[in-house]
Amino acid sequence: MSERWSPSSWRDLPIEQSPVYPDLGALAAAEAQLATFPPLVFAGEARKLKRQLAKVAMGEAFLLQGGDCAESFAEHSADNIRDFFRVLLQMAVVLTYAAASPVVKVGRIAGQFAKPRSSPTEVIDGVELPIYRGDIVNGTEATPAARIPDPRRQLEAYRQSAATLNLLRAFASGGYANLDFVHQWMLGFVKESPQSGRYREVADRIADALNFMRACGIDPESHPELRTTDFFTSHEALLLGFEQALTRVDSTTGDWYATSGHMIWIGDRTRQLDHAHVEYARGVKNPIGLKCGPSLKPDELMRLIDVLDPDNEPGRLTLIARFGADRVFDHLPGLTRAVKAEGRKVVWSCDPMHGNTIKSASGYKTRPFDRILQEARAFFEVHRAEGTYAGGIHVEMTGNNVTECTGGARAISDSDLRDRYHTHCDPRLNAEQAIELAFLVAEELKKERVARGPRQVVAAE
Ligand code: TRP
Ligand code: MN
Repeated sequence: MSERWSPSSWRDLPIEQSPVYPDLGALAAAEAQLATFPPLVFAGEARKLKRQLAKVAMGEAFLLQGGDCAESFAEHSADNIRDFFRVLLQMAVVLTYAAASPVVKVGRIAGQFAKPRSSPTEVIDGVELPIYRGDIVNGTEATPAARIPDPRRQLEAYRQSAATLNLLRAFASGGYANLDFVHQWMLGFVKESPQSGRYREVADRIADALNFMRACGIDPESHPELRTTDFFTSHEALLLGFEQALTRVDSTTGDWYATSGHMIWIGDRTRQLDHAHVEYARGVKNPIGLKCGPSLKPDELMRLIDVLDPDNEPGRLTLIARFGADRVFDHLPGLTRAVKAEGRKVVWSCDPMHGNTIKSASGYKTRPFDRILQEARAFFEVHRAEGTYAGGIHVEMTGNNVTECTGGARAISDSDLRDRYHTHCDPRLNAEQAIELAFLVAEELKKERVARGPRQVVAAE
């Protein structure tokens, strides 16, 4: 890897998961046009997220990252965005209370369009087709024409991201995130849940806390921090031509930033040290995520950290562990030890989704809720044993009432999957399953808090 970096230096290196565009002229034209468009996010926001993630790295905050496996052009409605945001906020309240520390809220949204695939083709009804790589690249329809990578889709993805982000910003600052509302929604969830007994206690305590604050004169009407929140966007930086076109110099610092989203991550399939995706990510100053799967060895991880976070800057790097429920104990301790031994200030986050995908008896790609929970619990357990901080969770979820993952309080069964199986890619937690996961993770956070002992409070004079 050469020392010199530029937004295009990745082009000289080998690359995985890159679509082959038949019309290179059209590709260059689309990228040139994107390069003239305004940035979707600005550098100051990415720095703010980095400061919040630095708190996570220090054990003083918790990261909640969630959203669709892949966004789609067909399902771009205000209702979908609102319902997603509503669920994420409910999860955040539960986690904030349980951790007794701030929750950094990051969506897999407003740019999460490109998908790495395990095979370049698939066979549908006896016909071999190029694989679907996300709406930013090609179409899901099972025809050869739809599967041809079309560069104009990148412009569409940009415009959709801009519109989504616009609505999210309005929700986050315009009153929709009011803590009283979010708490009311959560009570509705608890009432409807077959597990309500288990969740009621936490919900009641949150109600007590809000009532106590209100009695003291602290309420959302008088305190804007109780009716607004910081919300950030993220996606896998897979389609590097698109990313390059949105890579801009921040005029206040002279540094390069990816302006396609606040945080970007590198997938488990594209994290080769001397390849294009790592090269691109090392040069932008945004917070970076790195997916860590079972094939990642501790020494390889340490070399990746050297490249991606040479200054050991807290908040720069989030390691997103995704091993599969049975494999956490085999892989995570070695990685956390190596990171700790070298004093690396990273955020450790748990993706309990991607290592737990199975094919159900009825032929659906699904994820059993129990396995998801088991992986999350194992993640916390390893961190407790290793004396490191379990800093966050990363989930695929939707605000809709889909049936894609089995299990949960409503015990979705294999035969239920066909009812509302809508995902274009991986199975997502539905709204209830996502909130339930937050309650169950809250139990782990509480254990962690108890193990750490009471917070040091400096008494007033
Ligand atoms: N501003 C605080 C925060 O974002 C409190 C808050 C307001 C909040 N609305 C929220 C927390 C909704 C969670 C969900 O943490
Ligand atoms: Mn996925």
